[in-house]
Amino acid sequence: MNFNIRSFAIFFAFVGTFTSNSAFVIDIYRDDNSYYGDHIIDDLNTPKDAWDYEVVTLYKFLNAEYYGIIRIGRPAQEFRVVFDSAWADSWVPSQHCGFTELACMLHNRYDSSKSSTYKENGRIFSRKSQELELGGFLSVDNFHLEHIEVANQTFIEMTHMSWKPFALQKSDGIIGLGWRSLATNGTIPFFYNMIKQKLVKQNLFTFYMNRDETTNKAGKLILGNTDRSHAKDNLTYVRVVDKGYWTIQMDRVTIDVKKMNKTYAFCKNHCQVVMDTSANTISGPANEIQAINNLLGAKNIWPYWPYKYMVDCRQYALLPHVSFVFNDKEFTIDSKYYVQHVVYHGVQVCLSPFVTSAIGTWELGGAFLMQFYTEFDFDNERIGIAETVF
Ligand SMILES: *[C@@H]1O[C@H](CO)[C@@H](O)[C@H](O)[C@H]1NC(C)=O
Ligand SMILES: *[C@@H]1O[C@H](CO)[C@@H](O)[C@H](O)[C@H]1NC(C)=O
Ligand SMILES: *[C@@H]1O[C@H](CO)[C@@H](O)[C@H](O)[C@H]1NC(C)=O
Ligand SMILES: *[C@@H]1O[C@H](CO)[C@@H](O)[C@H](O)[C@H]1NC(C)=O
Repeated sequence: MNFNIRSFAIFFAFVGTFTSNSAFVIDIYRDDNSYYGDHIIDDLNTPKDAWDYEVVTLYKFLNAEYYGIIRIGRPAQEFRVVFDSAWADSWVPSQHCGFTELACMLHNRYDSSKSSTYKENGRIFSRKSQELELGGFLSVDNFHLEHIEVANQTFIEMTHMSWKPFALQKSDGIIGLGWRSLATNGTIPFFYNMIKQKLVKQNLFTFYMNRDETTNKAGKLILGNTDRSHAKDNLTYVRVVDKGYWTIQMDRVTIDVKKMNKTYAFCKNHCQVVMDTSANTISGPANEIQAINNLLGAKNIWPYWPYKYMVDCRQYALLPHVSFVFNDKEFTIDSKYYVQHVVYHGVQVCLSPFVTSAIGTWELGGAFLMQFYTEFDFDNERIGIAETVF
């Protein structure tokens, strides 16, 4: 019986056509609430003036999603959020979503009537793309991290969330860490508010993560500071070329296939790449991604899961290294880490991280960031990268 449920879960997962940062099925979704307290917490940490940065613990779910915890309002309501460098708005599901809004109903919902610090805005928000649909309205409230309170943050209360991909996600919402030009007109993104309210020591944020499959702790996000003790070498600084997404220039991608004595190159004459902390994949133009998956021997699992490629779990640790070159320096990832190895109740699936980009450009997500310490620096308009020492 168990086996049937599991096969169904896997089958369902395949049919579900995962997008970059979505995860497994509802059954699995309910599996792990270990660190997660009551929806509403009465007792807030008193904001401590001494703090001029914040360290957020990131959790991971099935090697696919990375998120942290924030609290909104007073008394505080708790949410799991993805800290997303490729989005500038912040949002959570709303208590006002209807019963037919399954993706919304499956998550924690913000209830403004229960918060004494809530302020009304009411402007309508809507966003539609090939992969998702979202709709809601703007509200204002105070956001709490472990030690820091960000006052009067404008965010979106979502009343409409498409089933795909949101029903399958462990996280409730998003804190947008993109540039202001991406934000809904007239709203101040979360980190810009932290800067404005003098809550940060430096106008940058830092991600570093582990690659340890045995823990659900994924790493840290430092809002407003660095911690170079987690960077192995001096940082390589790459200039931001588009202040919307965190977009930088990459020299090339190389794959050294030992058994053919040959190095294959992609993105041959420089290309632009978005550093995306919300995805766990590496995406790129369709033809290059297909060629890379061919080199890795990854098989498209059409028709179940048309955009994903699987590799043989018995061999995934032996696949070639892949190098990303920035400012003439190579950043190499090992297949042991870049293959998304999902184990659930004894069933394992090994996925290639290389997927076709919806926007046609390269995007580096978790499969890259898990190995490299990255600083996203607003003032110097650059991203600093070094190998992570955990
Ligand atoms: C937040 O808004 C309230 C009311 O509008 C105002 O009194 C307070 O000073 C604001 N706080 C910050 C940090 O902007
Ligand atoms: C953006 O906000 C400004 C100022 O509030 C307003 O003049 C402008 O019309 C808005 N643009 C859009 C597209 O909503
Ligand atoms: C790191 O930077 C320092 C100061 O610029 C320099 O002296 C040192 O040689 C660099 N180390 C490496 C390994 O490049
Ligand atoms: C690769 O190089 C090695 C050593 O130079 C050689 O023995 C082997 O035959 C080569 N393999 C191919 C496929 O060319």
